[in-house]
Amino acid sequence: MVHTNIIAATKSDPGRLLIQGGVNLSGHLPVSGAKNSALALMAGTLLACGPSLIHNVPPLADITILSKLLQSMGVRVERTGNSLTIDPTYITTHRAPYEMVSQLRASFFILGPLLARLGMARVPLPGGCAIGARPVDLHVRGLSALGAEVSIEHGIVEARATQLRGTHIYLDYPSVGATETIMMAATLAEGETILENAAREPEVSDLANFCIALGAQIQGAGTPQIVIKGRPHLHAAEYTVIPDRVETVTLLIAGAITNSTVTIGPVVVEHLSAPLTKLRDIGYRVELVGADTLQIAPGAARIGVDLETLPFPGFPTDMQALFTALLAVAEGTSIITERVYENRLGHVAELRRMGADIRTHDRIAIVQGVSHLSGAPVQATDLRAAAALIIAGLAAHGQTEIRGLHHLDRGYQDLEGKLRAVGARIERVISPEV
Ligand code: EPZ
Repeated sequence: MVHTNIIAATKSDPGRLLIQGGVNLSGHLPVSGAKNSALALMAGTLLACGPSLIHNVPPLADITILSKLLQSMGVRVERTGNSLTIDPTYITTHRAPYEMVSQLRASFFILGPLLARLGMARVPLPGGCAIGARPVDLHVRGLSALGAEVSIEHGIVEARATQLRGTHIYLDYPSVGATETIMMAATLAEGETILENAAREPEVSDLANFCIALGAQIQGAGTPQIVIKGRPHLHAAEYTVIPDRVETVTLLIAGAITNSTVTIGPVVVEHLSAPLTKLRDIGYRVELVGADTLQIAPGAARIGVDLETLPFPGFPTDMQALFTALLAVAEGTSIITERVYENRLGHVAELRRMGADIRTHDRIAIVQGVSHLSGAPVQATDLRAAAALIIAGLAAHGQTEIRGLHHLDRGYQDLEGKLRAVGARIERVISPEV
């Protein structure tokens, strides 16, 4: 068995994970910077005159793709450890190349800043993905409301505006991406923009705080109404990305499902109200044991709970697959309703191959807890499904083999290394298929 360096593995074949389940974990699990914040901040650097320095940026495949996309447009991007220097001073084009945008939906976040900085932007429409169609109509309508002429032809969004003008925008849905696109564009618009029914996710607030560090005037981020007073120019800044709340919950549930006592940090506990409440309702003991460190420990029982994914501060959709894996071995019935995406139950079929008793109907999964799962070869269908299958494998009897690790490497920094460090028997293997 070859124990492989992850970066090498990612470049060619991401390999397979082999997990021997039933092992208790103990120790501390470190949390990396938030992928979904870092990606938005990288787009936000385009608003600034000069090089911004962003710390706590995890070395993930998604971050690498966006870095390469920006470099292809003449933006200087340099990594030193977990810090990125991004300098858009010598940007050479307003056109984002299709072949790179098609690899990473989040590349679409550069549309707003590009338009605000250059007065024009040409970005391919991101396709759908495994979890849903993921349209960008709210992004486009918001930029049009700010005075841009936006056309969509041949799968390309073309936006032009000699000067964006502040206005009153109401979002039909509190879309994270649309909130971020409009907020970034509005920072350089003339006048005031009021954005109503804005997304309240912590990553939106992190982006707002970064833009404020650039000199933007933004109030109300984290609430349903954000007010942005446009400025003629923004300067560069140094900023540190918040911890990744989805990775935090992934690590918490790895401890929970193996009946272990582990600590996880750094965390921002205010970002975790919904998942911590659910973990306690199931029966786990979860306490803050330091300024930014959580400890999880087994409780008397593990009972099923219902959950419904909603925009923040509702239960986060990105944590739904993780909890589905945990509830598969809780006592009793759990009803899980996925309200954000139309197709985010892909992990259920794979969990059933491991012995889970889950029936699905449309966006609802009905989970009957079983005494244990059994290891099996399984295939990840998307990023959070990959994490959910790892969680299930940690608790399953026997060996679980997980394929589709290119999904995992998009959003987790060496998850298997972190878990192995606290006792998990988990290896990434590159070996010729026998
Ligand atoms: C962000 O995606 C995250 N990605 C997603 O994380 C996360 O699941 C999502 O927010 C919700 O929290 C990044 O930040 C890079 P949305 P985003 O716009 O911005 C509909 C992960 O696993 N919608 O809030 O694309 C859309 O179809 C990823 O890390 C429109 O209809 O999410 C979806 O049903 C997955 N029109 C819902 O809103 C639009 O113009 C939520 O989308 C935009 C969105």
